[in-house]
Amino acid sequence: MTATALPPSPPADPHSYAQGPALPHLRLSLTVDFAQRTLAGSATWLLAAPLPAATTLVLDTRDLRIERAEAFSSADDHTAAEAATALSYALSTPDPVLGQALRLELPAGTQTVRIAYSTRPEAAALQWLSPAQTAGEHPFLFTQSQAILARTWLPCPDSPGRRFTYEATVEVLGPERGQLLALMSAENSQSTAADGRYHFRQPQPVPAYLLALAVGRLDFAPLSKRAGIYAEPATLTRAVHEFTEVEHMITASEQLYGPYRWGKYDLLTLPTSFPFGGMENPCVTFVTPTIITGDRSLTSLVAHELAHSWSGNLVTNATWNDFWLNEGFTVYFERRIMEQLYGRAYADMLQVLGEADLRHTMEELGAGNPATHLRLHLAGRDPDDGLNDIAYEKGCLLLLAIEQLVGRPRLDSFITEYFARFAFQSMDTDRFAAYLTQVLLTPAEASQLNLPAWLDGPGLPPGAPVARSARFAAVDAALARLAAGTPPTDLQHITTEWSSQEWEHFLRGLPPTLTADDLSQLDVTFHFNASGNAELLAAWFPLTLRAGYTPADASLEKFLLHVGRRKFLVPLYRALLATPGGRERAQTIYRRARPNYHSVATSTLDELVGGEG
Ligand code: BES
Ligand code: ZN
Repeated sequence: MTATALPPSPPADPHSYAQGPALPHLRLSLTVDFAQRTLAGSATWLLAAPLPAATTLVLDTRDLRIERAEAFSSADDHTAAEAATALSYALSTPDPVLGQALRLELPAGTQTVRIAYSTRPEAAALQWLSPAQTAGEHPFLFTQSQAILARTWLPCPDSPGRRFTYEATVEVLGPERGQLLALMSAENSQSTAADGRYHFRQPQPVPAYLLALAVGRLDFAPLSKRAGIYAEPATLTRAVHEFTEVEHMITASEQLYGPYRWGKYDLLTLPTSFPFGGMENPCVTFVTPTIITGDRSLTSLVAHELAHSWSGNLVTNATWNDFWLNEGFTVYFERRIMEQLYGRAYADMLQVLGEADLRHTMEELGAGNPATHLRLHLAGRDPDDGLNDIAYEKGCLLLLAIEQLVGRPRLDSFITEYFARFAFQSMDTDRFAAYLTQVLLTPAEASQLNLPAWLDGPGLPPGAPVARSARFAAVDAALARLAAGTPPTDLQHITTEWSSQEWEHFLRGLPPTLTADDLSQLDVTFHFNASGNAELLAAWFPLTLRAGYTPADASLEKFLLHVGRRKFLVPLYRALLATPGGRERAQTIYRRARPNYHSVATSTLDELVGGEG
């Protein structure tokens, strides 16, 4: 088991300029200025030891205002009586995606490098919200660093293959400072500081994409000794009710794949403009409030972000080309957690829905498209454009294929050991393939699996697993009756116990040829327009748009003005654009909605919808 001979560590990350000595620790000191929409202060990088000789250090930056760079020959820049040595530095020509390399010439003896800087109001990682864009009456700030946006809020080695521990001092400025709580992907306080000053410590080494900060009028409610919720006061009670199962999820995860190694596991529910469903920031997962439905039907998303505490945050994709190692493992792990809590039939529904997403994405990308390979080739591209469902669902299917081949007991002990052995390290596709074949698979199993076809081949290899769901079979039967002319009201008694997943499968299974009249009957019976479930609404609106069922227009518009989650916005604007006169309608809505969207969403939608004025 220990005699594995893995290939050497991965080649350079095509999305980072960073070079030079290891930087094992970061000290961040920032003020948060809501009036100016800037973060200002310094990032201090500690080297492992004083440099034996003069060396060039290169960090990633994008849209930062660098004010000054200094070196110290001790590890402590706060109390040392020693004077700072001013450093000469240079910024390279800006690249729209990668930003600018910051080159610093470090003299021999340097142990600490301090860079004074500030961010720009339009920094891509930062979303500054006005009070009207929150659930309350105070401004809000949150960061989204993945994939390569950390460099827009601090100068750093912005590669998932580079880790560091960190501590931070954050001071909130302005008259409202005493009411705003600051949180980071670190040990957090549970109450607001009257002076607006917060200290953070992340004792575990993390890559830059897991750096996170949020500031807002937030309250905390504990769920268990190690789990809790931060939310705006107007959202907290509903969030606590929705997420009561979090401790059970953590316990189930530990039973599956080993100890949770990050101390606390809290959730922060963000304002609706959060561009993702969830983001696995260590110690505090950021989530969209659109998963708060009142019936706990979308909590697999929490299981997903929690699972990243192992797959991703402990063992991290070396570059964004290896993204499937983060997301494919996490989707597999997420469904194992859900199975543990709610049973196999529930997990099967999630798997079938995921496979439907995968088929859809593969059709869109087209057979033979290299974007359908697990190993990506994103050099020269914005990783934000290149990352899609393939890593998630094809990655999960690879693990299911291995499960079928070797059985759960063997796969589970392999995964547990994999997380333990490579904890706080990065992993790339070749090293993983070598490890898997050396440690888990017999030669016969390896040839049956055909790993090269999974990793570097298009679509799905023949014999890829296909999930079945007994509960969906009942939904399919209802769909068949509907297609044969049974009126929706006659199906009502079958549907009373349906979960959100069954409804999602139902909506996806409705024929695209339904007329506005058909949809009206369905709506009167099942109340889709009035649903509080964002997943269902997002599956319903494309049907109403195609059929011209106008009673849905107002709720679609409300949805687009309110929700910033890109996964919903892109297909909805596409469906809107495909209707007669749709471009003008889409642009009218987009012009109003755009101020509420994060740059991650607008950078995609500006291209799709246009007319942003
Ligand atoms: N880490 C991702 C979000 C992400 C990926 C942000 C790539 C930036 C670049 C997160 O874990 C995730 O996958 N979120 C999903 C939800 C999940 C249940 C599939 C999302 O936001 O939709
Ligand atoms: Zn994920």
